[in-house]
Amino acid sequence: MNEDITWHSTSVNKEHREKLNRHKAACLWFTGLSGSGKSTLANEVEKILYDKKIHTYLLDGDNVRHGLNKDLGFSAEDRKENIRRIGEVAKLFTDAGMIVLTAFISPYRSDRDFVRNLFDNKEFIEIFVKCDLDTCEERDPKGLYEKARKGEIDNFTGISAPYEEPLNPELIINNGAGSDLRKNAEEIIHYLETRKII
Ligand code: ADX
Repeated sequence: MNEDITWHSTSVNKEHREKLNRHKAACLWFTGLSGSGKSTLANEVEKILYDKKIHTYLLDGDNVRHGLNKDLGFSAEDRKENIRRIGEVAKLFTDAGMIVLTAFISPYRSDRDFVRNLFDNKEFIEIFVKCDLDTCEERDPKGLYEKARKGEIDNFTGISAPYEEPLNPELIINNGAGSDLRKNAEEIIHYLETRKII
């Protein structure tokens, strides 16, 4: 960073915007294997929050890789940059007083911890969307596991690249076969209520 750049505080700050919104700002960081159901679950949570008149925005892996991060691939280095940029964007959304939901594999602990450290204490809520690899592979909604098994995609998470499970996430959601989407979404809503975020 250029040392001639200084940070300016604004007259209207996050606390003002939170007051106006009548809820706290937070980042709900969903992490898990491809096919674990992160996007589906984040979508369901966002719908419930919307119905409660809460200001939200959902950043989703595949969509962000079409725009902001279309220059990035799936090497460890590119994923690190992917997560860093998304973390910074998520931070801006919380500064805007919103609840931002992110759905990215984010397979490396160090990358997720980097993002955690951008946030104020208790603002970053790491949600491990837990689903065993066999179930993800069976679901294979985009046919990518099949391609990865055939060697047509390199560095595929769970097959030829690692997924490091969170050690201390705020929430673990069991999203394996037969799981109940609504029930899982409500568990997250309940957490936000007990933490007085909403
Ligand atoms: S992350 O690892 O950098 O967090 P991200 O969530 O943005 O990944 O993107 C994951 C999505 O990209 C997957 O759901 C899948 O659709 C697609 N994808 C394409 N190639 C790969 C790969 N090698 N590994 C994992 N996902 C891939």
